Amino acid sequence: MEYKIAVLPGDGIGPEIVAQAIKVLNKVGAKFGHSFAFTEALVGAHAIDETGDPFPEVTFRLCMNSDAVLFGAIGDPKYDNDPKAKVRPEQGLLAMRKKLGLYANIRPVNTFKSLIHRSPLRTDLVEGADFVVVRELTGGIYFGEPQGRSEDLTKAFDTNVYTKEEIRRIVKLGFEYAAKRNKRLTVVDKANVLATSRLWRETVQEMIPDHPDIEVDFMFVDNAAMQIIQWPKKFDVMVTENMFGDILSDEASVITGSLGLLPSASVGIHTSVFEPIHGSYPQAAGKDIANPLATVLSAAMLLESLDLLDEAKAVRAVVDKSIETGVVTEDIAEGKAYKTSEVGDWLAENL
Ligand code: IPM
Ligand code: MG
Repeated sequence: MEYKIAVLPGDGIGPEIVAQAIKVLNKVGAKFGHSFAFTEALVGAHAIDETGDPFPEVTFRLCMNSDAVLFGAIGDPKYDNDPKAKVRPEQGLLAMRKKLGLYANIRPVNTFKSLIHRSPLRTDLVEGADFVVVRELTGGIYFGEPQGRSEDLTKAFDTNVYTKEEIRRIVKLGFEYAAKRNKRLTVVDKANVLATSRLWRETVQEMIPDHPDIEVDFMFVDNAAMQIIQWPKKFDVMVTENMFGDILSDEASVITGSLGLLPSASVGIHTSVFEPIHGSYPQAAGKDIANPLATVLSAAMLLESLDLLDEAKAVRAVVDKSIETGVVTEDIAEGKAYKTSEVGDWLAENL
């Protein structure tokens, strides 16, 4: 089969890590008899510099006409400390999510044996932790109107909005993941304070009778933040709104000690997007030192989304092998550190 893949390398280390995933996908193609047609487009700070728009129309059209999107990272320090900047790279990410209808962000959290000593948590607490955060991605306080300032600029406001329909479609996905896994779904909200959260609870409660095999529990977000570090092994699938999911998924990603290894998928109405969960790491840009494994594992999720399951398995296996063999970048190397490009070459050769 031939697949059209939109490639959005973005900023910082984005181009270097994405290049390694492409090497691996090309090898998958050669080995399994597929061809991947990669087309690059601009996003983020790079796109602002060249077009003034962090998610240009041509990039959007390319995504819409592709089978999947491979995404690097966005963000540039020149925008971070300038609250007055009119256009920001992050707006490109939000525009992409909204325009592609990517209402769900899926972040699997699991441990790698050889990296577990890097976890900030005790090994016995975190070893074997394996859960998925399903974050709502196109609603809530990120997109609610009104958002802005009062005329005299002394007051600012954001609005948290959810419709029943938005809640239902993301929770449905949560139920589906739970059904494929250990059949436990934790719904995280702040129903003791927020009206939106009470609508979440009400909606989930209506859905429970249709999923008798799934054990559902509700947890306040502050408690969830605590439990993730106290008992990470007790979670299976966690579903939550945009802002809570943003915070909890970052928290979840560091407990395993494998931040540079965790992939994510954003899925919804149009083309799905696959990207590492780490950021653009501008300090490392151009140095050929960034860890490409999270992006390569994102490519494995991309393959799964195309129903190429054996291919995805082969990619995961070669990543495991590189970690076991110690062909890894400096962030996780115990002995010799390999360059980003060397890790990519090794993965492609050994797949
Ligand atoms: C993420 C990021 C984004 C978010 C930022 C960069 C807008 O933190 O993908 O989690 O908050 O969603
Ligand atoms: Mg985030």
